[in-house]
Amino acid sequence: MKIGVLSDLHIDMNEKKLEIGQKYDRLLADLLYNNEIDLLLLAGDISSDYHDSLKFLDQMAEHDVSEILFVPGNHDFWSIRNGETNTKEIYKAFQDREESPVRNPFIINDQTAIVGNPGWYDYGFASDKYSTVEFENKKLKVGGWNDRLFVHWNEPDQVVAQQMLDQIENDIQLVGDREIILMTHVVTHPQFVVPLPNRIYDYYNAFLGAKSYYSLYEKYPIKHSIMGHVHFRKTLIENGIQYYCSCLGNGKHWYTNDAYTELSYTLETFLINE
Ligand SMILES: [Fe+2]
Repeated sequence: MKIGVLSDLHIDMNEKKLEIGQKYDRLLADLLYNNEIDLLLLAGDISSDYHDSLKFLDQMAEHDVSEILFVPGNHDFWSIRNGETNTKEIYKAFQDREESPVRNPFIINDQTAIVGNPGWYDYGFASDKYSTVEFENKKLKVGGWNDRLFVHWNEPDQVVAQQMLDQIENDIQLVGDREIILMTHVVTHPQFVVPLPNRIYDYYNAFLGAKSYYSLYEKYPIKHSIMGHVHFRKTLIENGIQYYCSCLGNGKHWYTNDAYTELSYTLETFLINE
């Protein structure tokens, strides 16, 4: 089975990169077809409005090129056009879809299974010179973290991060002793956040990932770990675990001006024996 890894398509933000007549769902379908991808792991942030993200998943299902597993990113929880504020309902809309691995790990065979969850940030990768309250405010003089305007869990981020971690561990129990491919949106490994000290990211690293999730790699037989969110592209092998961050990211960071070429640069693939 050939598995593809991508995240952070941000089809709305990157719309200006399209030529007349191009659409991201069609480009992605072509990419999956041309690379003979059996299963795409899409690690969040299709767009900044959950309606658009759901519609995109519908379009990909219609193209029917590869199977897709998807976990929403922080931007997918936004309702930037309609101003809906019930984030838990929006999360449920994603979990109700066939593409959701939450509570429903994807069993490839007796050896390997995929566990996926958006995850949420726990502030753990930031400098300890700031207080929890300063992180909860999501705003400093240097600027704000916009989830404060568009994501409404009605619970502290650290509580949400822990609930998501608990769900990951519950789902890992469901796959028995299989080796695990883990997919989250948030970063789970310190090599994928910004090195500190850093004038800006001493603070903003708080919102990039969940340091508490790093313990998963010691506790469970995770062999591949997929994440997104940080808008750079990087792979890492550590202690026999292959980590991937394959963000298409914001167009201003692209190497080219062509959406298909940039998608093909971003895609990572690996093989699992069926
Ligand atoms: Fe993103």
